[in-house]
Amino acid sequence: MSEPLLDVRDLERHFDGVKAVDGISFSVAHGEVVSIIGPNGSGKTTTLNLVTGTFRPNSGTIALEGERIERADSARIAEHGIARTFQNGRVFATLSVADNIEVGLHSTLTANRPFRRLSNVFLLRWIPLLAELYIAIVGTPASRREQAEIAAVVESEIDRFEARLGPRRDDPAYSLSYANRRRTEIARALALAPKLLVLDEPTAGMNQSETAEVLEQLLELKAAGQTILLVEHKLDLVMAVSDRVIVMDGGRIIAEGRPDEVRTNAAVVEAYLGRRRGLGGVDLK
Ligand SMILES: Nc1ncnc2c1ncn2[C@@H]1O[C@H](COP(=O)(O)OP(=O)(O)O)[C@@H](O)[C@H]1O
Ligand SMILES: [Mg+2]
Repeated sequence: MSEPLLDVRDLERHFDGVKAVDGISFSVAHGEVVSIIGPNGSGKTTTLNLVTGTFRPNSGTIALEGERIERADSARIAEHGIARTFQNGRVFATLSVADNIEVGLHSTLTANRPFRRLSNVFLLRWIPLLAELYIAIVGTPASRREQAEIAAVVESEIDRFEARLGPRRDDPAYSLSYANRRRTEIARALALAPKLLVLDEPTAGMNQSETAEVLEQLLELKAAGQTILLVEHKLDLVMAVSDRVIVMDGGRIIAEGRPDEVRTNAAVVEAYLGRRRGLGGVDLK
């Protein structure tokens, strides 16, 4: 069996006695689309926060292509190839669409950020700062080449959402519709060409046609081989795009399987319908 892209073992994270994530294990294979569903407060976002380095686990391991990352910070994890979007959407309000996408690429710069590894060494932090400043003012052939490459990536990501983001590439994010802000955020994550794309409720706050559009885009990404870890409330979308669905409740995994298996699982129906009847548009028919 080949090694999974992401492998999570016995992961635990508690907050003041609340076991947000209570010993979960799962893996994501290369090219697979795995969704995590579950009632509010079941630990889905916390799981994503652990995988992307926003929080450290109290115990357990996370491996990306066999390399342990559970102690790495989010910048290092992004360099390793995991990019994410946030449940509430996070863009820089005063930056344009293009600049918001470009910001995501900052961590990949090498020619424009020489000696950047030294920025972790307290006494030597001024060296990369001065070098960056020098290159920003004077420039080098390599730094100009890198800037051109970055501009090309930004344009190709805007092209991906051409009809929506194309006409707005220079507009500040605060002037965008909610759906376009989310698209900008997804474009920023994709600009990193991540091995694993992590999406936390990408259609939250979107209407039906906007949600259908996101589904189309996810299916395109999937067809192109993109590995995705998705948290999403809209079960129709989850069922349409996922290879595998993980169901969480109370910080634990209560079921896992193909969409059609999960849909009919008694524990899942209980977790959703037993306590959340009529909530969140959840429909397990
Ligand atoms: N930063 C935090 N501080 C304290 N409690 C948190 C924090 N993040 C999550 N929790 C708690 O952990 C539990 C799981 O939350 P979360 O992972 O956001 O659930 P979900 O995304 O499934 O709705 C909840 O009880 C929540 O209140
Ligand atoms: Mg959440």
